[in-house]
Amino acid sequence: MAYTEKKFSIPSLDGISKESIDQHLALYAGYIKSFNAISAAMPEYAKDPEKNALALSELARRRSFEWDGMRLHELYFPQFEGGAQMPSAESALMKQLEKEYHKFEYFIPYFTMIANIRGPGWAMLYWDPEAKQFIAGFSEQQHQGHFVGLPVLLALDVWEHAYLLDYGASGRAKYIEAFFKNLNWSVIERRFESAQ
Ligand SMILES: [Fe+2]
Repeated sequence: MAYTEKKFSIPSLDGISKESIDQHLALYAGYIKSFNAISAAMPEYAKDPEKNALALSELARRRSFEWDGMRLHELYFPQFEGGAQMPSAESALMKQLEKEYHKFEYFIPYFTMIANIRGPGWAMLYWDPEAKQFIAGFSEQQHQGHFVGLPVLLALDVWEHAYLLDYGASGRAKYIEAFFKNLNWSVIERRFESAQ
């Protein structure tokens, strides 16, 4: 089954231009197109895996890159939907953030430090339902460094394409600030609830 592009209702953002979002959405669509093209090509090559070993192995490697690019952006864009909103002081998410980071305000610089790790990738906050704790981490590019099987609560894209247009190549820190300014925390609260 081929995957299809999801649509997002992204409001006008403070510090992230519509042009940048539009270009970013086009990149997202490219991941889906590539994933579908690779998936469609593989069965034909698989008829003679010995002869097509090189092509098959390269396609198998690329497929997870494309799929992760697709899924991560489907976590990223909805975080702006509905407009900026701070977490509710009474929410389960806020209580857990305060438990692990003492104050909500301490979490932002911690996560920002992760998001500033050099190289393209994603800063992510996962929930481990078994240990009942957050795990924050950095996925290099988009297909490496994942905490397998853990639900993603917060996904911050720090590839250059996310900020180059608005802030230039050295503008990652300003973009991260803008991301948090526009983040709808109620989306993260809902993800946390369903991850229990
Ligand atoms: Fe991206």
